[in-house]
Amino acid sequence: MNLDADLYSPRSIPMESAQSFAQKLLPQLGWGKSDSDEVVLDVGCGPGGTTKNLILPLFSSSSRIFAVDAMPNMIALAKKHNSSPQIEYSVANFEDWSVLERWKNQITKLVSILCFHWLKDQQKAFHNVYHLLRKGGEAAFFFALRSTFHASVLEMQNSPRWNHLFNASTISTLLRYLIG
Ligand SMILES: C[S@@+](CC[C@H](N)C(=O)[O-])C[C@H]1O[C@@H](n2cnc3c(N)ncnc32)[C@H](O)[C@@H]1O
Repeated sequence: MNLDADLYSPRSIPMESAQSFAQKLLPQLGWGKSDSDEVVLDVGCGPGGTTKNLILPLFSSSSRIFAVDAMPNMIALAKKHNSSPQIEYSVANFEDWSVLERWKNQITKLVSILCFHWLKDQQKAFHNVYHLLRKGGEAAFFFALRSTFHASVLEMQNSPRWNHLFNASTISTLLRYLIG
């Protein structure tokens, strides 16, 4: 995938449904109700707007939040615009266990918003989630299971009639508005 960090970042909080997931559904699952210190991992944090504005407020001031993204330019923007003493941003491909191993059995809450539908090997990623969670830890995901438009976008990209309208930025913008 090749999301354009500069195009994505001005919208620091994504679509309304993702906001509702973090602000309504997670509290309904009991997230944010405990004073205990949590070790949180936000997978596919992008430019960090959701990490700082939606995830951070759910946890106590002594909780630690790790936030990872596969794209270095997303992490650079996150560090620049959405830093917090409680958040540590780093570049990591969530399908690569070698870069995740440092958190093995450490994570008490793992969250991922609008990222898992981008992964090539979801089975591997869920396997990684399992090995990252501490006993009793919890994970919550918000992602598209199926979409009606992905196939059309790919077909248009490969069609001589339409492909001149498609470059990485156009596709990035289109997908951002369609699925966050
Ligand atoms: C639509 S953005 C969502 C960003 C953020 N969670 C939000 O809600 O604004 C999807 C993010 O997932 C990241 N991503 C895609 N594949 C990834 C992978 N294999 N490992 C880590 N991050 C990945 C992308 O770089 C992108 O920043």
